[in-house]
Amino acid sequence: MKIAQRIQDLPTYVFAALGRRIQALRAEGVDIIRLDIGSPDMCPPPEVIDALEESARCPDSHGYAGFYGDPCFRQAIAAFYARRFGVTLDWEREVLALIGSKEGIHHVPTAFADPGNYVLVPDPGYPTYRMPALLAGARLYPLPLLRENAFLPDFGAIPAEVLAEARVLWLNYPHNPTSAVVGLDFLVEAVAFARRHDLLLAYDNPYSEVIWDGTQPPSVLQVPGAREVALEFNSLSKMVNMAGWRVGMAVGNPEAIAALARVKTNADTGIFQPIQRAAAVALALPEAWHAERNAVYARRRAVVTRALDRMNLWYAPYQATLYVWVEIPPVYGTSTDFAAALLEEAGVSVSPGSAFGAHGEGYVRISLVQPEERLEEALERWERWLMGRTLGRLLGGSDG
Ligand SMILES: Cc1ncc(COP(=O)(O)O)c(C=O)c1O
Repeated sequence: MKIAQRIQDLPTYVFAALGRRIQALRAEGVDIIRLDIGSPDMCPPPEVIDALEESARCPDSHGYAGFYGDPCFRQAIAAFYARRFGVTLDWEREVLALIGSKEGIHHVPTAFADPGNYVLVPDPGYPTYRMPALLAGARLYPLPLLRENAFLPDFGAIPAEVLAEARVLWLNYPHNPTSAVVGLDFLVEAVAFARRHDLLLAYDNPYSEVIWDGTQPPSVLQVPGAREVALEFNSLSKMVNMAGWRVGMAVGNPEAIAALARVKTNADTGIFQPIQRAAAVALALPEAWHAERNAVYARRRAVVTRALDRMNLWYAPYQATLYVWVEIPPVYGTSTDFAAALLEEAGVSVSPGSAFGAHGEGYVRISLVQPEERLEEALERWERWLMGRTLGRLLGGSDG
């Protein structure tokens, strides 16, 4: 057996590798507090589970569910976009059901970039924008998202020769990993840029409902003319705590939806019908359900930021997503060194910033996916551990 050349240099997905190490430590009896992966620890509400159960009991729910998504789910997506963003979607041509948004994101370079073309990706950014582009033979052009620029890309800094070969522009706000948010004015600029350079604007919006303190993230489709160039991805994973269910969506330009569907229909045969029926119920949940769930994240974030203030560590100030983006002073080594030592020595797992791109170096990401008491404990462990290291350094010892 020979492994294909195209995956020889492909790193293992960061959370897959980390998960294995955590499993090994837990097998040794170490109590690990996981603040790395963004998998919500809360549940969807009972009416969503009831819809799943009811549909699962129907004899006609168990066959292949159809390639593009159950009409009931796609109509619920269109209704959600109309209610939440004031965006009207033709559910038959402009909406595609996905097995989690990651599935659709994976297919984008295959559908839109030929070998040698550029895919423009946020750096730091969600890793799944990058690896599938390389698998498709495309080239990556990272867009640095700098703190001094509110984690927005500088479109003017992209070289003309890159733009001439670029096919896809990935953007994601509220942003993983920094939690940065944008207003419609930035999206107007992004749409104009994509139109000027004939790019697919792939806008990833899975945190649109994980918001508090008045944060109101827009959909890119609210921008006049966006539908000519944009596909937006969203997902039930974070929106309604359904990460394990694997259900999401792509919406927007009908030709782009058709191109994505052409790849997708050769790769899978639809989502289990009861999951789609339950997802339709989840998309219609009242505002109050989201507000209550988001209040939990806001309290958790306050627990974390109080501790970070005590440790005098800078963190990004946004009120959205499941993440807190924390600066790690260089004295503690690379973000990978820092995260590995925090895991091995204090039993707290965070994501190293470099896992999200070169411009993530110098930061780590904390996920707010543990109850408050557990977060308190994790941050106390972290604080004690940092004090120990600082003391060790002052006394002339090595801090590894
Ligand atoms: C920015 C971003 N996009 C997409 C996804 C994928 O979400 P899912 O495949 O669960 O819908 C994630 C998951 O963490 C994410 O952070």
